[in-house]
Amino acid sequence: METSTLPKMNDTAKDFMPINGTDYLELYVSNSKQAAHFYKTAFGFQSLAYAGLETGLKDRESYVVVQDKIRLVLTSPLKSGTDIGRHIDQHGDGIKVVALWVDDATYAYNTALERGAKPYMEPQTEEDETGKIVRSGIYTYGETVHIFVERKDYNGIFMPGFKKWETPEYNPEPVGLKYVDHMVGNVGWNKMNYWVEFYEKVMGFTQILSFDDKDISTEYTALMSKVMSNGNGRIKFPINEPAEGKKRSQVEEYLDFYEGEGVQHIAVATDDIISTVRQLRSRGVEFLQVPDSYYDAVLDRVGKIDEDIAPLKELGILVDRDDEGYLLQIFTRPVEPRPTMFFEIIQRKGAQSFGKGNFKALFEAIEREQEIRGTLH
Ligand code: FE2
Repeated sequence: METSTLPKMNDTAKDFMPINGTDYLELYVSNSKQAAHFYKTAFGFQSLAYAGLETGLKDRESYVVVQDKIRLVLTSPLKSGTDIGRHIDQHGDGIKVVALWVDDATYAYNTALERGAKPYMEPQTEEDETGKIVRSGIYTYGETVHIFVERKDYNGIFMPGFKKWETPEYNPEPVGLKYVDHMVGNVGWNKMNYWVEFYEKVMGFTQILSFDDKDISTEYTALMSKVMSNGNGRIKFPINEPAEGKKRSQVEEYLDFYEGEGVQHIAVATDDIISTVRQLRSRGVEFLQVPDSYYDAVLDRVGKIDEDIAPLKELGILVDRDDEGYLLQIFTRPVEPRPTMFFEIIQRKGAQSFGKGNFKALFEAIEREQEIRGTLH
């Protein structure tokens, strides 16, 4: 059941692990150079930094792209037998690291471990001529990790070990993506509450919303979800688990193809979703389609909105309202061969929720794609 009012997000007094925001997302991919090109060309990211053979690395290569506050690190192995290669073999391209920007990465690590986290990387300091960065890391669901990044003493472009990646002849325009609004994890059967407790206990997050299988179901499939948030509300992690339905749900499909738990989607915010989605579509980004009939009833459901319906219908943008305002959102198709990770584009106009009113139309759209893939059984 959805709670009708969200807790106020300005109470940091009892936030024992202050997080300033998402620092970067690192994807392990089979071809980092081509992936970087894709995120520039299709999504409007800009070239930022590079690490690889030219900076002295022997086993991997990373390209970093940026758009406003969103940084993606795209990493591939340079030889066989690496853990990155094994990760890609098992999971396909996907998110390995959700890095969180903190003031003190050593404190964050020690606190998390005291509270039961599994260690991934002990605090380590990396330095170059522009300053130093301290990083540490813990595991979350599946093989996904959180790295705490402390960068208050650093003035370089990204991190020590990286050099500026310059592409003077090819820099497609940004499309207006601003920051990571939320990031959703898919976990196994009956594991949602385990990970809810993990974020409560280890990181001091609170649960701000909950959806059961009656909220999120169609004729065929169902899932459950709880939304965790840190104290200042800058980090929001909905966590999904599959629920029993007549057929295989999207979360089960994800778990089968990712071969484990992992990040399902990254929601990125824009101030002008019509312009952003128009550009993304023209650059070849593929989105889920809802039927035209969705727009017949949408204004009855959400009331008056600032936008005309025509461009929303033309572009397939969805609308939902809660007590505080409304939001506009749209979901891409998966961005890799396996039906696993995808992006959401979201514009919030007051609403702080996640589009509950669109769940049914959306999941039916996903089922139509599952039917085409032959994975809805
Ligand atoms: Fe979302």
